Amino acid sequence: MIQYKPPLGWNSWNFFGANISEKTVTETADAMVATGLKAAGYEYIIIDDGWQAMQRDGNGRLAADRAKFPSGIKAVSDYVHEKGLKFGLYSCAGLRTCANYPGSYDYEYVDAETFSEWGVDYLKYDFCHFPVYDHEQCWLFFRRMGAALAGCGRPILFAACNWGINGAEKWMKTSGATTWRSTLDIVDTWESVKSIALAQEDIQPYNGLGCFNDLDMLTVGMNGCGNVGVTGCTETEYRTQISFWALMNSPLIIGADIRNIDFGSLQMLKNRMLLEINQDPAGRQPFMTNRHSEHPVWTRLLDNGDYAIGCFNFTDSPSCDPILLPDYGLAKACGRYMVLTDVWTGEKFEVRDVFCRSVAPHGVNLYRGEIKNV
Ligand code: GLA
Repeated sequence: MIQYKPPLGWNSWNFFGANISEKTVTETADAMVATGLKAAGYEYIIIDDGWQAMQRDGNGRLAADRAKFPSGIKAVSDYVHEKGLKFGLYSCAGLRTCANYPGSYDYEYVDAETFSEWGVDYLKYDFCHFPVYDHEQCWLFFRRMGAALAGCGRPILFAACNWGINGAEKWMKTSGATTWRSTLDIVDTWESVKSIALAQEDIQPYNGLGCFNDLDMLTVGMNGCGNVGVTGCTETEYRTQISFWALMNSPLIIGADIRNIDFGSLQMLKNRMLLEINQDPAGRQPFMTNRHSEHPVWTRLLDNGDYAIGCFNFTDSPSCDPILLPDYGLAKACGRYMVLTDVWTGEKFEVRDVFCRSVAPHGVNLYRGEIKNV
């Protein structure tokens, strides 16, 4: 199944790890509606690793851990669908998953059938415990699951997750994946966000419509709690994270416990201008208009001719990188200027030539720029 916009949703891993249950997942589906996140566009409720029984059942099928999911996965999937949401599940290309539950290696077709019967709409497909002797040809196994999903009789979004290794950006799209994880695992620290962001430049040519790079689940709103909580980030750092992810066409998959999320984080996740940039129907690749890797200015041309422009600062002191109209082909002679709207404050700025505004340490100024006739 192909989807022409980065998926928006929630995933259990960042906050709950393998410590998940039917109760947590159904309450999260309720919270998705009650918090207004569903109305804002978030639609997938994804159960990550740890839902499985330790062994396959007597028919060689994956089965749920009955203590965690007493009603079974199909019942949870039905519950999620009744809320008008979509249901996601996790498996792995290896013999076991990363948390050591049964993997789908050599069971791809039978597992795709099971997922289809359970009403799965999204499969996150991981890469742990993959046999060493097959490593050189790991794409064959992603292709096999991709083909199994494509033929299983139900549209299931294939979210491939091999952490961007083995040159995944060059071949993952061939497997039928709609998204491909381009990074190692995120944790809820500034250093983690920074290292993911700074590793994106060379792979952007492989990102875009129909196969989006996945920068991993957001940590916005975790505030240092939960499975990958560690230290947490500041509000400025969370704003930088979600701005970067949105501008890079990354899926925005919430990792926080949305049943108990703080008001500020919720508002951040629901920012309409930000989501419109992320979900822009053109899905074009972002590009850098300066060459300073630690305070990059990233830009993306949007479907209606506007530009999304993010001035990021990954250093510890204020920065000020100019937005230069000639970088957008707007030399004086073309008789155009740009009006920037700050996505986070709503402020508007007219740019006739050069525009420079200080960016806080670890911060971002994110704009939507409209080109106007002089
Ligand atoms: C890997 C993935 C994570 C998560 C865990 C689950 O580390 O990259 O996103 O799915 O496995 O075990």
